[in-house]
Amino acid sequence: PTLRPLLAIETSCDDTACAILAYDGRILAEEVLSQKDHAKLGGVVPEIAARAHLDALPAIVSSVLQKADLTLSDIDIFAATTGPGLIGGLIVGSSYAKGLAIAMGRPFMAINHIEAHTLTPRLPELEGDLQFPYLTMLVSGGHCQCVSVKDAGQYVRLGGTIDDAAGEAFDKVAKMLGLGWPGGPALEKLAKDGRDDSYDLPRPLKGRAGCDFSFSGLKTAVSRLIEPFGSGALPRNIAADIAASFQRAVADVMKDRAEHALEMAPASTALVVAGGVAANATLRSCLEGVAHAHGIPFLAPPLRLCTDNAVMVGWAALERLHQGDHPDDIPTAPRPRWP
Ligand code: KG4
Ligand code: ZN
Repeated sequence: PTLRPLLAIETSCDDTACAILAYDGRILAEEVLSQKDHAKLGGVVPEIAARAHLDALPAIVSSVLQKADLTLSDIDIFAATTGPGLIGGLIVGSSYAKGLAIAMGRPFMAINHIEAHTLTPRLPELEGDLQFPYLTMLVSGGHCQCVSVKDAGQYVRLGGTIDDAAGEAFDKVAKMLGLGWPGGPALEKLAKDGRDDSYDLPRPLKGRAGCDFSFSGLKTAVSRLIEPFGSGALPRNIAADIAASFQRAVADVMKDRAEHALEMAPASTALVVAGGVAANATLRSCLEGVAHAHGIPFLAPPLRLCTDNAVMVGWAALERLHQGDHPDDIPTAPRPRWP
């Protein structure tokens, strides 16, 4: 079969990413540029993010082409995330990819960011030989949901967060503990020095039917623990104990929700975790335990493919092409919300 390289762009949040994949899913080149400015500002500022994507795209696209030893005319299809996400970034990335597609007389594919996260574990490079149906726990800064993946394009959302996403909760609690942004990795590091049974924190929705999540009560409970210390710095040992106890509470909830999800989707061939929070070792091992108790494999893509990237966008496009879909998504407008 003739190779038909595909170029994909991701700009839905604060990472500018581009990747080129061969038709069979081999990754020919990839690059992610994480915007640094937001760390100083304590969160993603949409307007700044959109402008930064625009600044970064031309260089990142040529660099990826160069790494793959290709030129634009070698690319057969262009794809970009068109939602859900921050509208400014979505407009920048998708317009850029559409512009390239129109200029080169090639098709454009509009890709759903969540779908891309969800299909990533099927990438040939991961050699997981992951078959449908499987269960994905998608846990990142922006998303937190359980999805039963029946086929490419066929998803059943079993549950999701009713308030904060898991990563958002990590980030907010980290901020309360005086850690930098993004808080998840810093909180995990601090938690290593603490005892996870120091504080009795709530396990929101644990034991409830379904697999929805809630983290705002947990966050409030942490803020109450910190209150007595006023505006002064929290002693490090106490911060570490709080971090460890919080992380344990999130892991307990995650475990409970995953067990419920597997009851709701008993035919699942594997339990998959994706999204930035999947970097957390405590959460990973908790979910791994759930999978093994059910006698199914546990799969977590390598971190670079768990967090936002363009490889996943290209792979989601290829899954559709492999199904025989012939896209022409130029008229598709970006959508900040796209369930
Ligand atoms: O998938 P991602 O890169 O971006 C999106 O939100 O789409 O996820 C980033 C989130 C942040 O909230 C970050 O704090 C969290 O993932 N995170 C972690 C860890 N590493 C990243 N949370 C807990 N433990 C970690 N080790
Ligand atoms: Zn994401």
